[in-house]
Amino acid sequence: MCGIIGYVGRASAAPILIDGLRRLEYRGYDSSGMAILEDHTLATRKRSGRIANLKALLSEQPVSGHCGISHTRWATHGEPTDANAHPHLDASGRLALVHNGVIENYQALKQHLVQFGHEFQSQTDSEVLAHLIGHVYDSSSVGDPRARLVKAIREALKQVSGTYGIAVVHADAPGFIVGARLGSPLIVGLGKGENFLASDVSAIVSHTTNAIYLQDRDLVALTEDEFSIENVDGDEAAYEVSKVDFTPEQAEMGEFPHYMLKEIFEQPSSIQNAFRGRLNDDQASAVLGGLGLTPRELRDVERIVLCGCGTASHAAMVGEYIIEHLARIPTEVEIASEFRYRNPPLDKNTLVFVISQSGETIDTLAALREGQRKGHRVLGVVNSVGSTIARESDGGSYLHSGPEIGVAATKSFTSQVTVLALLGLLLGRMRHLSVDNGQRLLREIRDLPGKVERILEQSERIKEIALKYINAPGMLFLGRQFNYPTALEGALKMKEISYIFASGHAAAELKHGIIALVSPEVPSVFVMPKDAVYEKNVSTVEEVKARRGPVIAVTTQGHTDLERIADDVIYIPEVHECLSPILSVIPLQLLSYHFAVARGCDVDKPRNLAKSVTVE
Ligand code: AGP
Repeated sequence: MCGIIGYVGRASAAPILIDGLRRLEYRGYDSSGMAILEDHTLATRKRSGRIANLKALLSEQPVSGHCGISHTRWATHGEPTDANAHPHLDASGRLALVHNGVIENYQALKQHLVQFGHEFQSQTDSEVLAHLIGHVYDSSSVGDPRARLVKAIREALKQVSGTYGIAVVHADAPGFIVGARLGSPLIVGLGKGENFLASDVSAIVSHTTNAIYLQDRDLVALTEDEFSIENVDGDEAAYEVSKVDFTPEQAEMGEFPHYMLKEIFEQPSSIQNAFRGRLNDDQASAVLGGLGLTPRELRDVERIVLCGCGTASHAAMVGEYIIEHLARIPTEVEIASEFRYRNPPLDKNTLVFVISQSGETIDTLAALREGQRKGHRVLGVVNSVGSTIARESDGGSYLHSGPEIGVAATKSFTSQVTVLALLGLLLGRMRHLSVDNGQRLLREIRDLPGKVERILEQSERIKEIALKYINAPGMLFLGRQFNYPTALEGALKMKEISYIFASGHAAAELKHGIIALVSPEVPSVFVMPKDAVYEKNVSTVEEVKARRGPVIAVTTQGHTDLERIADDVIYIPEVHECLSPILSVIPLQLLSYHFAVARGCDVDKPRNLAKSVTVE
């Protein structure tokens, strides 16, 4: 949450920062701002609302300079006002700071600073940190301003509890930026005669592909030609320069009107990328070398725990069904935010997986650390290469989906389920799954991209269905077995981008209370491919229809019997039941997309949300 970008080089900083903020806007869009240093003068511009507002302000009040920091905010402390927008200044007005994270003890620090006469302009925790650093800086007036600034930041951070990714500039130290992180992501981009600091690589990829992923407690000092990294105690810190694994074009919308639609349409290739090189025909199994486990270690696994948040937790739920079905290993899904505080009993043969698109979700990261603290091997299923979860996990599998920028997760869900299906296949083939069944699954996995294409061809038809229900005040999503999680995911998509109440349920639960919500105004979306519970689902559809509830059904091609009872039927190709959520979720993604667009919602930046949730 919140995006940071800093630039120091020979070019004019403001346009580079604006472009970087645009690429980071998915991390938060409540306000934005920048501080630019020119010689010994600091200029700040900030505005509540979207980056367009900041751009408008800059055209009225331009700033020049070759060094600056900027921020796009997802509000935690204080409303999205101009005053609460970052950067925040210290008491002298000569130091500016941008911050992503939460300073948990900011009230105590503020009270302490007030005693020294500090006055605050905002309600934010971040402004307190700016004042604290400035306070320490001003109390030692000797020495080189750059060294003083680094020292002041180090001293101040020692007094802070909470999380931070920060960038700081000071008018006494032109051409110099300091960054530090604890719990919030921060990367350094290394260019020629220019260097960058950013929350993620998407902000800098059009300038450089050389990046350093900072570790917790790292502190970096940047000039246009040099950088140094140490930890906040002043000790040397190890780092590695990595190559960014995607191109700037991949992070652009191209021909599509929204990132979400682009990412829905990328699924044939993103699913292919998730299984490419991982199918082992000789052994009718899967290859997941990144897990780093020997066959014996895999054989000894007695229980699996899958952790994630939001969409990733729904993919985990599908994984639970798949792994138990194929490998007969007891598997549980833990919402990461619950897992980290619940202290669940884990025995020594339990394997823990954390699942995350961004690799930065704070609760998922905390679940990973909790699992490791207990001495477990924790593996990651992650999209973002080099992210904190990817680096801290003890192995795992990348999704290779390319950047997912739309706030609503789409292609990451289908790739996560694909990787979990590979895991189920691998573990299954080490236990009871026959060669025949393994081979069938391999064929089915290979066929997925083509089948997804056929569903995407129905986008316009799904749009017509969405338009029919445009005034619906709410929607129910119902599914069973492998498609119960799909129903949860469909409901999450609908509510997060269209702001109507939508809830997902195990279809047979309808009679236990939910049926009270059925009415002619509230459509029920049934996810009911032809499987072992198809007939049961048909009976539930009848029950909804008997109460005059409209029904949209997603089912398998050929099951035209449903057209008699459902109002609208969307067909998906026939598929192995374990893999059916990979196909059945796509009509739900398209339904929520077209529905939200028709209602005038900003689908890529839904209100109150941010793409990666890096605060608790
Ligand atoms: C879903 O559309 C959301 N954007 C959200 O639930 C997301 O899946 C969740 O925050 C987890 O994110 P992660 O995969 O990056 O960890």
